[in-house]
Amino acid sequence: MWRAWNPSIYTILLPVIEFMDRQDLPYVVEPMRVQDIAEVVEIERVSFPSPWPPRAYRYEVNQNRLAHYFVARGRSPEASEEEAEERDSGLMQWMQHWTHGTKTQRPSVVGYCGFWIAADEAHISTIAVDPKHRAHGLGQLLLVTAIERAIQLNARLMSLEVRVSNFTAQSLYHKYGFKVVGSRPRYYSDNREDALIMTADHITSAPYQRLLQKRRTQLIQRLRRVPIAASQE
Ligand SMILES: CC(C)(COP(=O)(O)OP(=O)(O)OC[C@H]1O[C@@H](n2cnc3c(N)ncnc32)[C@H](O)[C@@H]1OP(=O)(O)O)[C@@H](O)C(=O)NCCC(=O)NCCS
Repeated sequence: MWRAWNPSIYTILLPVIEFMDRQDLPYVVEPMRVQDIAEVVEIERVSFPSPWPPRAYRYEVNQNRLAHYFVARGRSPEASEEEAEERDSGLMQWMQHWTHGTKTQRPSVVGYCGFWIAADEAHISTIAVDPKHRAHGLGQLLLVTAIERAIQLNARLMSLEVRVSNFTAQSLYHKYGFKVVGSRPRYYSDNREDALIMTADHITSAPYQRLLQKRRTQLIQRLRRVPIAASQE
């Protein structure tokens, strides 16, 4: 669906902030491509009791125009500064997404996330990090990427469902201003567990932007302490 051009201060500034912030991080986040799906489903398999099959991801990447999916991978240590800049530029990322180009052998996928957008609401459909790479800040990096992209797409609210027993994920979401607003009884078919519905309202508001900026700054400092070699393991 064509969207009217309605630039806000966030849509103008965020790509600039993102580009400047992400230059020397050990991980890069890129749009998910069909070629990434085999690695994504490996992480999916060890992260969820009812993993999505590859065809679900193929649908999301190839056909679902409301879907926005990303993968995180280690930054290639041998990539030249110029290559890294090129890869990190939004234009290049989206061109690669459409052409499915593979310029060089890329480091492995270590995490992914996705959301669907409808009107001014973005709904996080999935987020997972390879168990070997957890607790380095990657979950946050993926979540921040999704929030920033949703803001660029004019979303004002982000929502998600999370298992009542998944305290790790709930803690991640609380950190980014998500609050429990309801529940869905017996939502998960594998064990009939309830889901909590969590939302972050007013993600374009000044208070939320202050929270996001604070968290982003802390996250960047944390990620910079992860050696590039560790991001490749
Ligand atoms: C949820 C998940 C994506 C977090 O990824 P991660 O890379 O380990 O997360 P981060 O390192 O960015 O940590 C972010 C926050 O999550 C929480 N967290 C992470 N690991 C935790 C743990 N073992 N116990 C409790 N809280 C934890 C903390 O609040 C943490 O912030 P802090 O380190 O500043 O305290 C990851 O655990 C995962 O893939 N889980 C399986 C899939 C899943 O449950 N997805 C969510 C579906 S709703």
